[in-house]
Amino acid sequence: MAAAGRTLEGTVALITGASSGIGEATARELAAHGARVALAARRRDRLESLAKEIGGDALVIECDVTDKEQAAAAVGRTVAEFGRLDTLINNAGMMLLGPVVGAPIDEWERMVELNVLGLLYCANAALPHLLHAAEDDPRHVADMVNISSVAGRSARLGNGVYSLTKHGIGAFSEALRQEVTKRYVRISLVEPGATATELASHNRPEIIDNLRSQWGQTMTAADIADSIAYIVTRPRHVTINELLIRPTEQER
Ligand SMILES: NC(=O)c1ccc[n+]([C@@H]2O[C@H](COP(=O)([O-])OP(=O)(O)OC[C@H]3O[C@@H](n4cnc5c(N)ncnc54)[C@H](OP(=O)(O)O)[C@@H]3O)[C@@H](O)[C@H]2O)c1
Repeated sequence: MAAAGRTLEGTVALITGASSGIGEATARELAAHGARVALAARRRDRLESLAKEIGGDALVIECDVTDKEQAAAAVGRTVAEFGRLDTLINNAGMMLLGPVVGAPIDEWERMVELNVLGLLYCANAALPHLLHAAEDDPRHVADMVNISSVAGRSARLGNGVYSLTKHGIGAFSEALRQEVTKRYVRISLVEPGATATELASHNRPEIIDNLRSQWGQTMTAADIADSIAYIVTRPRHVTINELLIRPTEQER
């Protein structure tokens, strides 16, 4: 973790998918910058140990963001406990790869439900609070960071529907950015390349075998968290709209 100034003191961040990988590392990083953090995901035990490690009043929210009531309740609980919401890290996501021909259609449904609808439900519930925080001390600016992927920039053979979901949130983010930017809610899109997390482990065994043979250099979740912290700690008049970040050796 980078040495952090306390630039997020007095602010509140909700991080979805905080029980592992990029979300977990981002929660640590934003807390180190002084934010109070709400940790949302389905695995309560993982969230509880992270909250304990972070200390202070880190809030555990067990929820499934593909359920719109639970997504709205996660935002509602954050605001009820902490009184505000300055930063939403829309991170929960899943990547199920493989050929389109003969693909199990439930894998497509799960990705669309989580990567697209889950993100939209959280965005919808959070926006009134972000707009409010942007009018208020201490920063007079608020942030929504949507986690896309290199696959949100270019589709590749074998990542058709994952890429569809990430291209979709890129389009949504840009339209939303234009809508709220004059009100000082900054919308940022982060597009990581290969990062060592649990993400690939949810694939079918034959897909995992194939991925292993292609897997090269990876970044750590902390590398991405560092970039996210950079985004949300810029001065009020600066927005990082889009950040594409790859391991140096990754060519595509
Ligand atoms: N790792 C990479 O190479 C890479 C590259 C580009 C983009 N990304 C993106 O980065 C984001 C984070 O992924 P990661 O790599 O950190 O993978 P990860 O370790 O698998 O983390 C995914 C997180 O999403 C949560 N999640 C899954 N389903 C959920 C649901 N229905 N409701 C709430 N939370 C849910 C998981 O927690 P629970 O299971 O406890 O719910 C977990 O905390 C994803 O959007 C992914 O597409 C990753």
